[in-house]
Amino acid sequence: MPQYFPPNSNAFAKWSIIGGLIFFTLILTCLAIYVRSYRNRVNVPVSQPIPFSHALHAGELGVDCRYCHSSVEVAANANIPPVETCMTCHSQIRQGSPRLYPLYASWDQAIPGVNDTKSLEAGTDAPAPSSERLEWNRVHDLADFVYFNHSAHVNKGVGCSSCHGEVNRMEGMWKNEQMSMGWCLECHRAPEKYVRPIDEVFNVNYKKPGNQLALGQQLVEEYHINTGKLAQCSTCHR
Ligand code: HEC
Ligand code: HEC
Ligand code: HEC
Ligand code: HEC
Ligand code: HEC
Repeated sequence: MPQYFPPNSNAFAKWSIIGGLIFFTLILTCLAIYVRSYRNRVNVPVSQPIPFSHALHAGELGVDCRYCHSSVEVAANANIPPVETCMTCHSQIRQGSPRLYPLYASWDQAIPGVNDTKSLEAGTDAPAPSSERLEWNRVHDLADFVYFNHSAHVNKGVGCSSCHGEVNRMEGMWKNEQMSMGWCLECHRAPEKYVRPIDEVFNVNYKKPGNQLALGQQLVEEYHINTGKLAQCSTCHR
């Protein structure tokens, strides 16, 4: 057979195949990293229908977490507050603020001059009462095959800020941690590094004391934390 290609073309063909494979894997890896980081976005504020500020409400005004997230001590899920909770203050405070329109639009009671269509015939763009539900976008969302329980943590001295960070300084809300399995296990293997006195659980400014390990050890015993089962698969995958 006559040779149509120079002798080194074999090597060229071989290397272009290998190069192609490397390129292909690289693209796949980039894609996987992009998808993962998109899903596990950390430190990126999630946009919301109302620019609600924890820095203002939980920080400056000092409203307790439980005023709004009232189920956090007693249930697996922490609730997002209903419109009624906001309206205990905002039926009076900053009624005219356009930032609060979605709140008034979802409130089923008419406030003259704010969301009462009759009194608004003079023509503002404020919404009518009870027209829409206020839907907050989720910030944290573990996969369905993972079991998580707030009350189990909160009642054993694991503070909000150990997992959610300095919420009282956040203008928007974002995930403070990856919330991956490795992250959960880091604490489940050695809870004494994090456990604090129960009356400090809602104190977002709490700082670990110098004697954390000794104090933690003591609290782990006092609160009967079952360190034996914490790292078992069935604790979180059931
Ligand atoms: C005045 C009511 C109010 C108070 C007080 C409050 N929150 Fe919230 N919180 C909200 C609302 C409304 C949302 C939903 C909007 C958002 O995610 O920004 C929310 C969202 C959150 C989320 C994210 C939920 C998700 O979608 O995953 C966390 C975490 C959280 N709050 C923690 C706290 C902690 C910790 C405190 C106490 C330091 C606190 N909050 C105090 C109203 C409140
Ligand atoms: C304990 C009373 C209280 C509660 C409950 C409360 N707020 Fe507020 N909110 C305030 C005060 C006080 C201000 C600041 C008013 C000012 O700066 O003049 C404010 C300001 C705001 C602002 C900024 C308004 C603007 O025009 O800049 C938004 C948005 C807001 N709150 C949303 C909410 C939402 C949503 C809820 C329910 C999850 C809520 N608030 C619950 C007291 C409250
Ligand atoms: C041990 C870590 C941990 C602690 C402590 C913790 N959280 Fe959470 N929080 C999470 C995780 C994980 C999720 C996501 C749960 C899911 O997707 O099922 C979450 C979700 C939330 C949500 C969204 C609603 C929900 O339940 O999914 C709110 C609100 C919230 N946390 C508030 C709080 C408050 C307030 C405290 C303190 C009283 C607190 N959290 C303490 C880890 C924690
Ligand atoms: C900062 C420490 C810490 C972190 C982070 C943490 N946990 Fe825990 N977890 C604890 C402690 C302490 C207990 C209480 C153990 C006990 O009661 O014996 C606990 C208990 C549990 C339980 C048992 C609840 C029950 O009802 O039996 C589950 C499930 C759980 N954690 C899941 C998770 C998951 C999932 C994550 C990660 C998203 C996580 N935890 C992150 C400290 C932590
Ligand atoms: C403290 C809680 C906890 C324990 C204990 C735990 N896991 Fe997980 N696991 C998680 C969380 C959280 C995720 C990630 C979920 C997500 O990405 O939303 C996860 C994810 C996984 C995944 C999916 C792949 C991945 O990495 O995302 C597998 C498989 C898995 N776990 C197996 C196990 C096995 C096997 C054990 C026992 C050796 C175990 N887990 C113990 C919390 C736990």
